[in-house]
Amino acid sequence: MTKLDNKDYFSEIGNKIIGIIGYGNQGKSQALNLRDSGLNVIVGNVNDNYAKDAEKDGFKVYDIPEAVKKSDIIFLLIPDEIQKNIYKNHIEPNIKIGATLVFASGYNYFYGFIRPRSDITVLMIAPRMIGWGVRDVYVNDQGFPSLVAVGQDPNNNGYSILMTLCDRLGMFRKGGCAVLSSFKEETLVDLLSEHSWVGVMLYSFRAYYDVATELGASPASVILELYASGELAEIAKSMRDMGLFNQLKTHSRTSQYGQLTRGPLYITDEFKKTLKNEAINILNGTFAREWNDEENNGYIVYNRLHEMAKEHPMETEERKLYKILGR
Ligand code: NAI
Repeated sequence: MTKLDNKDYFSEIGNKIIGIIGYGNQGKSQALNLRDSGLNVIVGNVNDNYAKDAEKDGFKVYDIPEAVKKSDIIFLLIPDEIQKNIYKNHIEPNIKIGATLVFASGYNYFYGFIRPRSDITVLMIAPRMIGWGVRDVYVNDQGFPSLVAVGQDPNNNGYSILMTLCDRLGMFRKGGCAVLSSFKEETLVDLLSEHSWVGVMLYSFRAYYDVATELGASPASVILELYASGELAEIAKSMRDMGLFNQLKTHSRTSQYGQLTRGPLYITDEFKKTLKNEAINILNGTFAREWNDEENNGYIVYNRLHEMAKEHPMETEERKLYKILGR
């Protein structure tokens, strides 16, 4: 874990042009933070509503090849699955000799889907925060945590540039930090969360709904209990602020006893085996190849799974409840 030391790194990037490629969740927030921290920021975007938004926010917006030609430091802030083609067709042919390329996730560089030329400095700044949050904390004089890494360092100044950019993004203010990581580690921890507890949460909620309604609970009571009341979000905030088990204090003793005795029953050896297999599938590229095939095949499985999820009776009941709640 690192904080900015007293060394003046700013000279490394003070007069450089920062090109933000993509003005979406992360792009907008990072562009605004860097500009407000005194850097010279331009935006590269296809001609869509995101480009209009960037213009509205006062940025000079160019098409992606043009922005890349002008930039010394390029932030690649478009969705991971399209980065490979955009890089090959619009960035690689135009990127300046000796430029710096900053990823916000480990995915494309770790799997080798993007292999920047050897003269390019490759960095990763992967916020542990959603896009609007990166801006929100900045305007409130707070920081945000990120996993950061130097991937390729032809000029031996990658770390300096990285630290300066983290600083100018506002990362080192209260509540923030940069965790020195790697493209591999970021890919593993990010995907493994999605493939385990996040996915398990969705499907265990569905199983809970099936069981509880079968035993006579009303759909509304179940949906409110599980997530619609916002209690889940409060628990997550308590975990963030107090720690995973320390936040148990905020629950009743009956609840604590239930969680501590019943929770472990679900974490069987089979569960741990599945978790480990998924981690291996992430590290050896099996999942990435599967997702690549899925994209090439027109998202058939992806779309079908979305449709299947909508077929569950909980969906209709959720819509009814959300109408009453005015959502
Ligand atoms: P996003 O989905 O908000 O990206 C939107 C941008 O992509 C827009 O500027 C749009 O014009 C551009 N775009 C979309 N399709 C395009 C296409 N076919 N060709 C050219 N441009 C296209 O992206 P987001 O969520 O900000 O993610 C950017 C990076 O940040 C990714 O590497 C992601 O893993 C990383 N990240 C995202 C976080 C988040 O909270 N969303 C959190 C941490 C990292």
